[in-house]
Amino acid sequence: MSSGRLSYLSISKGWRSRLACPRCHASLELPDDMAESVQHLVCTSCHARYPASQGIINFGVNNTFYDHHGFTSTGRNFSNGPVGKLGLYLARSHFLYDIAQAVPPGSAVIEVGPGGGSRFLAERYDMLGIELSSASVRYAASTYGSAVQATVASLPLANGCADALISSFLLEHLGPEMIEQSVSEMARVLKPNGQMLHFFDVDTDASFVGWAKRQPWYDAIFIDSKGHHGMRFLNEWQRLFADAGFAVEVRRLSCKSWLQDLSVWGALDQPQVTGIARRIGHAAAVVRKWINPGADLAINALNDLVDPLLPDDWAAKAIVLLRKSG
Ligand SMILES: C[S@@+](CC[C@H](N)C(=O)[O-])C[C@H]1O[C@@H](n2cnc3c(N)ncnc32)[C@H](O)[C@@H]1O
Ligand SMILES: [Zn+2]
Repeated sequence: MSSGRLSYLSISKGWRSRLACPRCHASLELPDDMAESVQHLVCTSCHARYPASQGIINFGVNNTFYDHHGFTSTGRNFSNGPVGKLGLYLARSHFLYDIAQAVPPGSAVIEVGPGGGSRFLAERYDMLGIELSSASVRYAASTYGSAVQATVASLPLANGCADALISSFLLEHLGPEMIEQSVSEMARVLKPNGQMLHFFDVDTDASFVGWAKRQPWYDAIFIDSKGHHGMRFLNEWQRLFADAGFAVEVRRLSCKSWLQDLSVWGALDQPQVTGIARRIGHAAAVVRKWINPGADLAINALNDLVDPLLPDDWAAKAIVLLRKSG
């Protein structure tokens, strides 16, 4: 298929009718026939043109950092047996389990910054991926069926069109220049009483993170190379959500101790890290490579035992369930 021509847009029927111009929120001219070739979608009001290439619509974004640093993993599904249920409960520090508890099957759910998306969520919901990275958006489209290249700061969707919105490890990527606009966009596209669940890194001065922040390699390893320009303390997050009209319904705070998780320790397997930290980092990277997903699940279970004993403001990760006011 040549670039600029396509047979099918990577958008389900349900999400097609909810797309809107990210600049003025008016509807877009869409082909009646899903199989019709399309090169551009045009706004019916401001006439902005959005190119489509190989089924993916680009809503005016271009970001070379995430073109190279976007994620492409597509996660895994879980069987209905006891092992599958335990895996779902422990996976991603309970994030998938929390979503399944809060959001009814069949709901229209947006994932912002999905990377390659989640096969578990694809089975359960009518998912739409909003991804900045040109590589990741293609994986998200193949997992979810619906994905567009766009930024969470300017969503190409109509007001009040989604039942729920989720993200994992996206919020800490949203710098000061875009965070308020992004949270306000999330509120705009959710239905009244719509739910939001986010799993994200939180700043803290305690335990492992407090120590790591004092090391010369911290910014290079944990901020710049990952694009973590939106690290914020828990109380800053609470203010941002409240200002956009969200009430926090559930908060799950984790990784409060030096245990952290294997990906955090594995990140220390770098030449600029020396001594015992490097040795533990190397061991974590090796364990993660050879004994996963079991090793990650086991560390999550250990964190579950330790975290309830420690103060909330030591947490390095949070899951929050928020509800938009009606
Ligand atoms: C750390 S990855 C997390 C991927 C996946 N959610 C996961 O948990 O594995 C962050 C993703 O967010 C995407 N991203 C970063 N900024 C974004 C923005 N402003 N709008 C949409 N996606 C964004 C990146 O391209 C990347 O794929
Ligand atoms: Zn427009």
